[in-house]
Amino acid sequence: MLVKVGVVGYGVIGLRLAEGVALQKDMELVGVADVGPTLSVRALAERGMPYDFYLAVPENRAAVEAVGVKVSGTLEDLVEKCDVILDATSAGVGQKNKAIYAQYGKKAIFQGGESTDVADVFFHGYANYEKGLGKQFLKLTSCNTTGLIRAVDCVDRAVGVDNVMITIIRRVADPGDYHRGLTNALKVDKVPSHQASDLMLIMPHIKATGVLVHTPVTHGHIISTNIKPKKPVTREEVIEMFNEHPRIRVVRIKDGFQGNAAMFRYARDLGNPRGDMYEIAVFEETVAIFEGHIIFAFNVPQEAVVIPETMDGVRAVMEMQTDRLEAVGETNKYLNLR
Ligand SMILES: NC(=O)c1ccc[n+]([C@@H]2O[C@H](COP(=O)([O-])OP(=O)(O)OC[C@H]3O[C@@H](n4cnc5c(N)ncnc54)[C@H](O)[C@@H]3O)[C@@H](O)[C@H]2O)c1
Repeated sequence: MLVKVGVVGYGVIGLRLAEGVALQKDMELVGVADVGPTLSVRALAERGMPYDFYLAVPENRAAVEAVGVKVSGTLEDLVEKCDVILDATSAGVGQKNKAIYAQYGKKAIFQGGESTDVADVFFHGYANYEKGLGKQFLKLTSCNTTGLIRAVDCVDRAVGVDNVMITIIRRVADPGDYHRGLTNALKVDKVPSHQASDLMLIMPHIKATGVLVHTPVTHGHIISTNIKPKKPVTREEVIEMFNEHPRIRVVRIKDGFQGNAAMFRYARDLGNPRGDMYEIAVFEETVAIFEGHIIFAFNVPQEAVVIPETMDGVRAVMEMQTDRLEAVGETNKYLNLR
């Protein structure tokens, strides 16, 4: 029996989750829900309605139908038909929607913008898969935290990690986010950034801190990382660990991968829809051992990076696999990750 999944909130993350679910051969995408004729919802109509659409605000039915979108029912209708809901609504809305999911006794997975207490477990497919098994509500880590934990967990499982310090250069908006303004400034947050605090919630055996700088770009974050390992390790061993991780790419500056824009362009050249990239990319020439610490910098494609770990979340709550590596392996297979 296929696990029935619905996506609520068809924006930057929701439309990518829908595509991610459609690619999982052991899941069925029942449909997607949103509040009105947003650009992504209009595009659904122009694409010939690849997914059924459910309307969360029934008063907007005429406006939605006016742009050619067929309405298959209400949000509640969608929830009723699903085993698991992937809530990718605007931050804070998921907390309110949770009452509906609870009322129908359904499982739900929330995204990083919700407060952590929305869920039973704060989840990452590689770092704490087992904790999500059979639970009703999970919350995914944010885009930067997802990428950061992938890299730190990779090193941690190989040699153990004592502490980690990061500097995040954070893209300030997604492409098309006019509401964030036209800016030309950097903005610094207080330490520790939420990503460092979140890493400690998921991996409590590691101490973490770090700085975050918002930058006026839209294609990808860059995280500079300093890890104190428990055992000595060579630069080559670190590169090998990253190379073996299906959700981490190792790229070379000398090959032209000079930064976030090169990664975005390469994803487009690969023909990936919208220029999406599920993998984080470690820049090989930034990997070094300094006074026993591992340092490296990597790119986080913020719009697509959380999709694989969310699919892992479905596997955990539905207990489709009880073994972590088997679960992430199935997700990777369907998303075509090495
Ligand atoms: N954009 C990113 O780079 C990114 C990365 C990782 C995680 N996230 C997280 O993912 C979540 C979604 O972010 P996003 O960037 O996709 O936002 P978005 O604004 O692009 O999409 C949110 C969608 O939810 C819809 N929505 C609002 N209220 C709703 C309701 N009651 N019912 C149904 N739909 C509703 C909106 O109309 C919109 O289409 C947030 O928690 C965010 O923090 C975002």
